[in-house]
Amino acid sequence: MTQPTYLDPNQSPERRADDLLGRLTLEEKAGQLTQYFYFGTGELPDPAVLEAMSEEERQVVQQPLAVEAALEQGAAGSVLFVVNPALHNRLQRKAIEGSRLGIPLIFGFDVIHGLRTVLPVPIALAASWSPETAAEGQAVAAREARAVGIHWTFAPMVDIARDPRWGRIVEGAGEDPILGGAVAAAQVRGFQGERIGADERVIAGPKHFAGYGAALGGRDYDDADISDAELHNVYLPPFRAAVEAGAGNIMSAYMDLNGVPASGSRWLLTDILRDEFGFDGWVVSDANAVRSLATQHFARDLTDAGARALNAGLDMEMCMFDPAFGRLPEAVAAGVVTEEAVDTAVRRVLEAKFRLGLFENPYVDEAAAPGVLSDAVHRDVARKAAEKTFVLLKNDGILPLAGQRRIAVIGQLADSPRDTLGPWVFDHDVDETVTILEGLRARAGEGVQVEHAPGVRAGSRVFPSMFDRMDHGLPTVADDFDDDAELGRAVELARSAEVAIVVIGQNQNMIGEKASTSTLDLPGRQLELLQAVVATGTPTVALVMSGRPLDLRWAARNVPAILQVWYPGTRGGEAVASALFGDVAPAGRLPFTWPRTVGQVPMVYSHYRTFQPEEQGQRYWDEESTPLWVFGHGLSYASFRYGDARVEPAEIGVGGTATVAVEVTNTSGVAADEVVQLYIHQRHGTSTRPIRELKGFQRLTLVAGETRTVTFELGPDQLRYWSAATRDWVQDATEIDVWVGGSSAVTEGTGALLTVR
Ligand code: NOJ
Repeated sequence: MTQPTYLDPNQSPERRADDLLGRLTLEEKAGQLTQYFYFGTGELPDPAVLEAMSEEERQVVQQPLAVEAALEQGAAGSVLFVVNPALHNRLQRKAIEGSRLGIPLIFGFDVIHGLRTVLPVPIALAASWSPETAAEGQAVAAREARAVGIHWTFAPMVDIARDPRWGRIVEGAGEDPILGGAVAAAQVRGFQGERIGADERVIAGPKHFAGYGAALGGRDYDDADISDAELHNVYLPPFRAAVEAGAGNIMSAYMDLNGVPASGSRWLLTDILRDEFGFDGWVVSDANAVRSLATQHFARDLTDAGARALNAGLDMEMCMFDPAFGRLPEAVAAGVVTEEAVDTAVRRVLEAKFRLGLFENPYVDEAAAPGVLSDAVHRDVARKAAEKTFVLLKNDGILPLAGQRRIAVIGQLADSPRDTLGPWVFDHDVDETVTILEGLRARAGEGVQVEHAPGVRAGSRVFPSMFDRMDHGLPTVADDFDDDAELGRAVELARSAEVAIVVIGQNQNMIGEKASTSTLDLPGRQLELLQAVVATGTPTVALVMSGRPLDLRWAARNVPAILQVWYPGTRGGEAVASALFGDVAPAGRLPFTWPRTVGQVPMVYSHYRTFQPEEQGQRYWDEESTPLWVFGHGLSYASFRYGDARVEPAEIGVGGTATVAVEVTNTSGVAADEVVQLYIHQRHGTSTRPIRELKGFQRLTLVAGETRTVTFELGPDQLRYWSAATRDWVQDATEIDVWVGGSSAVTEGTGALLTVR
C-alpha cells in the first residue's frame, strides 16, 4: 500500500494538510481546533483530599485527566502550559496513539521573556530601542522552549499601552506604534528564526488582537472604545509589523472593541487581519475567550459562541473545559456554520503542524533538555540585554560611582530574587537569579563594603498574582516583617555610608495580568524611606524596579540620580552593577511618557495641537500639564551633539521619498550608545496630525569624539495615515517639520522642513 500523502515529508505542507483534512470526520476536525489547558502532572491527590474538596476544586484538579481522555479520542489539537519534557512526551504519545490518524499535538506556552533564562521584561526590551537585542533575547527563549517541547509561544504582546494603570503595560513596548512595530517584528524574528519550523525556534503568536491595551480606566479586560483613526494609526500597526515579519499565529483579545468582542469580530479577524494585512497563519482565542462571547452577552449560548467565533475568522479555541468548538458539528448540522469554514480553520492548524515537522519529529529529547537550559551563553545574552535596557532618568553627576568604599544598598527589592525576574515567568530557577545586592557585591570587589537593609516592604502580599499557583508563590518578605524597625536600621546604614543606593518600585505581582492599579504612588512606605535616606545627607541614587511609570515627583526634585532598571531578569543584578560602576553607559530610552501623577493619565507625547497652543503646558489648576519625563528620554554618561537635520530633496511629490541625514558626535571622553530619534509634524492636511510622531530611530555606539552621519527615509510608508475625513489612508501635499534628536522633546534647533507637493 502506498503511503498517504499527508505522511510524505516530501510533499508541501499545503498538500499534506489537504490530504489529511479529507480523511477527518467533522468531530475530529473540531478536535484539531481545540486547545486545552494542562496544569500539573495529571496525578490526582489522595482520595481523602479529593473528597474534602468543593465540586469546583475537584473539577479543576481532575481537569488534566479529562484532557487526557480527550487526547485518547482525538478530540484535542493542542495543549498549553506543559513545560516538562517527560510529560510532553507522555501526552504526545497519547495523542498520536489515541487518535485514529495519529495527529501530533502542537504545544503552546507563555514564553514571554524567557523560560529558564529570564530576560528583562518586554517593556524593558522595548526601552533598549534596540530591536536586535529583543530578537537575540527571544531567540534564546525559543531555544530553551523548544528544548522542553514547546512549539509555539503566546508572544510577543504587541498591544499599545497608553495607560500605566493597566498592569499589562509591562508585557508590551509602550505607547508608540513605530517603536512598537519594530520591537514586535524583531521578537517575531527572534522566536521564529528564518522560517516557521527552523531548528530550535518556536512559532510566535503576537497578541491580543486588537485594542486590549485601551481598557477603560486601565482596568484589565474592560471594554475599549477606540476611534477608527486611532485603531489604524496607533493600535494596529504593531500587529501589521508582526504579520509582515512572518508571525505564524495571532491571539485574539477578550474585550469588547467598540461594542463587539474582539474574539467575535469578523471585521478584525478577517477584514483587517487577513484581507488587509495578508495574515495566513491561524488565530487562537485568548483563554476561554470563545466561551466569554456568551459571558459578555454577545452570543446566546456556547454553540452560538463557537459558531460566531469561527465565522469571524477565529481558528482555535483555547479553553479549560467544555469547548464551544466541541459543538461545531452541531452548528454545522444546524446550518449556522459551513463545513468549508471548519475546513479552512483546520487546514491552517494542520499546515502549522506540518511546517514544524511534527509528524516526523513529534517527541522531545528528554536527555538533551537540561544541557540547553543551563547553557551559559543564554545567561550572557540576558545580562547584555539587561545592560541595554536601563534608562538614566536623572543624574547630577553622582553616577557612575567613583571609588566609594562604603555603599549602603537599601530596599526590599534590592535583594529579592523573585522580584528581580518580574512577572510572567514560570519555569525559572529562582536560585540562579543575581539580585542587585549580589551584583553590586561581586562588582565592588575586595575592600569595598556593600551592606544591605531592606527598609520597608515594596508592595503588598495581599496583591494576588493570578499565577501565584504556578509561579511558586514565593513570598518576597516574611509575614512578620517589621517596617518600623527596618526603616530605622536602613536610615542608620545610609548615614554610615558614602553613597546610598535605594531600590524602590513594585513587587512583581503588582504588575501583569489582572494587576491594574488605581494609583502610581510608590507602594507602602517607600517614599518615606527614600526621604529619610536623602535626609541623612548621604549622596543617594534611586533605582526604580517597575514595569510602569510611578509617581516620582519628589524623587525627581530631591534625589541626585535616578536609574530605571525595570525587572532586569536572571542576570539583572550584574547588569545593574555594570551600569552603576560605569562599565557600560546607560542608553535606554523611555518607551512611554512618564506622567507626574496618575491624574494626568492618559498622557502621550503624540498629542494634538489645541485651540490655545501656548497654554499646552498649563491646563491643570493644580499640576503642570507636562510629563515628568518625555517619551524617548534617557541620559548618558557621555554627551552628544546633533548637527542640523538635512532633508534631501527638500521637496518631494506625494508618494516620493526623501532622505533625512544628521551628524551625531560623542563630545565626551567615554564610549556610549546613543538612540537617535526622528520625529515629524505635518503642518496641515486632510486630518490634524500629532505635534510629534516618531518615524525612525537608530541605536548606535560612538566612541569618545566620534562623529557619525545617521540617515533615515521619509516616504509614503512614513507619511501616510488613516483619516476619519475620508475614512481611508491618505497622504497629503503639505509641509512637514522634521527633527532628529535624543528624545521627543527635540526642538527647532535641529529641525528642517520637507515640502510634499
Ligand atoms: C490569558 C492572557 O490574556 C494571555 O495573554 C495568555 O497567553 C493566556 N491567558 C494563556 O496563559
